[in-house]
Amino acid sequence: MTVLYNFDKPIERVGTNCTKWDLMEPAFGVPASDGIPMWVADMDFEAPDVLQEATKSLIEKANYGYFTGEPEMKDAVAWWMETRHGWSPDPRHMFSTAGLGNAIAICIQTFTDPGDEVIIFTPVYHEFTKKIVNADRVVKESPLVIDADGLYRMDLDALGKSLSGKEKMLLFCSPHNPAGRVWTVEEQKALAAFCIRHDLILVSDEIHHDLTFPGQTHVPMPVAAPEVAERLVMLTSSSKTFNTAGSRLGTVTVPGADLRQRFGHALKALNLQANLLGCVLTCAAYSPRGAEWVDQLTRYLDGNRSAFLDAVAQIPGLRPMPMQATYLAWVDFTNTGMEMSEILRRVRNDARIAPSVGDEFGSGGEMFLRFNIGTTRARINTAISRLQDAFSDLQ
Ligand SMILES: Cc1ncc(COP(=O)(O)O)c(C=O)c1O
Repeated sequence: MTVLYNFDKPIERVGTNCTKWDLMEPAFGVPASDGIPMWVADMDFEAPDVLQEATKSLIEKANYGYFTGEPEMKDAVAWWMETRHGWSPDPRHMFSTAGLGNAIAICIQTFTDPGDEVIIFTPVYHEFTKKIVNADRVVKESPLVIDADGLYRMDLDALGKSLSGKEKMLLFCSPHNPAGRVWTVEEQKALAAFCIRHDLILVSDEIHHDLTFPGQTHVPMPVAAPEVAERLVMLTSSSKTFNTAGSRLGTVTVPGADLRQRFGHALKALNLQANLLGCVLTCAAYSPRGAEWVDQLTRYLDGNRSAFLDAVAQIPGLRPMPMQATYLAWVDFTNTGMEMSEILRRVRNDARIAPSVGDEFGSGGEMFLRFNIGTTRARINTAISRLQDAFSDLQ
């Protein structure tokens, strides 16, 4: 029997140690009492029953000691990737990290040396840059270009011409945050060929793998370009799809024996293992009931996407970019003719909305804001009317 989930149901998150709501005022000066947090990639929906039942059963055992269960979790990951994405990863090639930010940092430290360059396609998830810089490596930005349809594209010719020879790794985001792209097989094949040609390790961060919109199919890199497997590191997680980032669990799949040996060694040195809650939640999520919830979630998010993008496109000076995936709307404010400080004043003070600021995402993001639409439709509608009011003088 199909269960119908109610994504319109508001849940109280204020005062629950919730980054998105409880840190909004300290970070942006927008109070939670009346503000709308549209920044960090975290959704405001109640967790599905399948997760609640698994967590309750964990609590009922009253036993939080050392645990077994990581192999079952890896089997669940393999099942999900096979049934949802047509990729059959070998559970013996998987490692667990404390989330994917952690996995990115370990990849950088394991596969590159201080002073090496790591390539990223900007604008991109801001933590890529932070992790590279914090490890004393050098960020090499390859700016994405916007085509006639407003879609972001990689410019591998320009990147190839700009190489210094110090590049060791390429950190790829697929689907792309914040550009909202679902990369085609052809694009991924071209990227894989580029990495092979220039002897680069390809780290493919696919944390947004499930959050695609109708008509779009996310193809994991090992399916799109099996020829790159020996130099590929795959990052996946159930945490973005099921909003379980608090359980800090990421899966790193390394098909090539050499890179796998090096990654495994690095994890042992750090004594990193999976955690109990992350395993319980991932096993519960990666199930037929979890799949049913995700199908309904993406339909709901699609409604949010149409409502938000259609309305924002009507506000003079604002240009929402097409969204093929993620719940992160990327909006260009260039045509307002305003300084970013004035745009932020209007968005934060007048509209009482806290989006992510585009320049954090690197070159090309300077005049953009990223709006998280993973919330109730009612709140999306309020955000729309507040933005309309805040920029109404541009009519
Ligand atoms: C592309 C990408 N990678 C990694 C992360 C962070 O993952 P985690 O919470 O597992 O550290 C995010 C979070 O939004 C993300 O968008």
